[in-house]
Amino acid sequence: MSITFKKKPNYTVLADIYDRVMSDVDYETWADYIDEIILEHRPEAENLLELACGTGTIALSLEELDCYKITATDASEDMIRIAKKKASKVNSGIEFKTMNFLNLQLEKKFDVVYMVFDSINYLHNEEDILKLHKEIKKVLNPDGIFVYDFTTPRNSRKAIKFLNNEVKYVKNKFRYQRESSFDPVSKIHTNIFQIEQKNGEEGHTVEKYEEKHQQKIYSQSEIEALIKKTDFTILQAYDGFELKPAHQKSLRITMVLQ
Ligand SMILES: C[S@@+](CC[C@H](N)C(=O)[O-])C[C@H]1O[C@@H](n2cnc3c(N)ncnc32)[C@H](O)[C@@H]1O
Repeated sequence: MSITFKKKPNYTVLADIYDRVMSDVDYETWADYIDEIILEHRPEAENLLELACGTGTIALSLEELDCYKITATDASEDMIRIAKKKASKVNSGIEFKTMNFLNLQLEKKFDVVYMVFDSINYLHNEEDILKLHKEIKKVLNPDGIFVYDFTTPRNSRKAIKFLNNEVKYVKNKFRYQRESSFDPVSKIHTNIFQIEQKNGEEGHTVEKYEEKHQQKIYSQSEIEALIKKTDFTILQAYDGFELKPAHQKSLRITMVLQ
């Protein structure tokens, strides 16, 4: 008997279990890395804008350093709902807003705009990537920096080995299965999350949902060629979580633009 999963938009049902799905990710180290980059390239920075902030873990971690005023945005209302819930538990001063990064509506300007965890890979075409850079220019102070990472084709080839068919249970309430695949021709990395939400003491399944996430995977030279078409210049392309230059074997590359 085939099971029907209700199709849901990205980061709606997943939002409630996102932090559990990402429980292996060391966000504190990631936040420290963003702080290191800021200290290296814009040490006097005060006002930060995070794009695609998800459930707010990086922003909350950076806030603990007591050096920054942070605004954090994401297109998903559900991810922002979780971020706000986490923020209220720690009396955070971060301003969380639901916002598409291709249409930024912000009064303030920022010293640093950053975006982590290959969120740029959700943009599938040149037009959108150029539009994103234009939007950032609107909200960045003249000597501000724009920091973002992307994953490389090499990473996708490796990642499907451990992400495909991953099954996890979340507090006996949710069970999800992730199917991960990479098409080396179209360079599309697909993650399908099938989420079963359980109810009651016996954990009877009540709802089944599916989110299909598709990310376009770019090489360093492709991203650099796109940046050349913007008003930004590249200060650095870093490898992984290091302050060392990216190279052919880099799995994740962090761009620092001015
Ligand atoms: C892989 S998650 C990363 C979330 C968070 N940065 C983290 O590290 O956990 C990608 C995020 O990008 C957001 N996103 C995708 N497209 C977006 C857009 N056009 N505008 C704003 N956020 C977007 C999604 O809602 C999701 O929260």
